[in-house]
Amino acid sequence: MALKGPCPALLLLLLVLLPACLALGRRETRHEKFHRQHVDFPKTSAPDARRYCNLLMPRRNLTTDACKPTNTFIHAGPAEVDDVCHAGGTLRTENYYDSKVPFELTICRLAGGAQRPPCNYRGRTSTQQIRVLTLPHPLHAAGTVA
Ligand SMILES: *[C@@H]1O[C@H](CO)[C@@H](O)[C@H](O)[C@H]1NC(C)=O
Repeated sequence: MALKGPCPALLLLLLVLLPACLALGRRETRHEKFHRQHVDFPKTSAPDARRYCNLLMPRRNLTTDACKPTNTFIHAGPAEVDDVCHAGGTLRTENYYDSKVPFELTICRLAGGAQRPPCNYRGRTSTQQIRVLTLPHPLHAAGTVA
């Protein structure tokens, strides 16, 4: 299945599904939301991954109502990330693409305790291929987003 235009996709990292779909008619599209949540390039400077996560999670509004339990930031430009659905990825099934090259990531996980702000995160960096799950219809996202 050939997909055109902005990736109507979910990004799958490890077993975590990250929404990247377009949903028109909203103030923030799914695609924009995906970039807000998952793309930080050039990487924001911080002394270590823990402090990076504790800076970026609130800054990207991922701790507004509750602490998002886990989130991955990709340190590559939005166009490069989106391209995984095109030339930058290999179609594995009709449902997902794997990136051809590894990406630099920071993975943030809530460090236990409070589920409400102020949130305390652990962070670790990783370089690995990412997987973009394509969705033919945004409604399908609801059932698959972790
Ligand atoms: C976070 O939310 C505030 C208030 O709604 C908004 O002004 C700001 O632009 C948001 N930040 C991001 C990165 O979307």
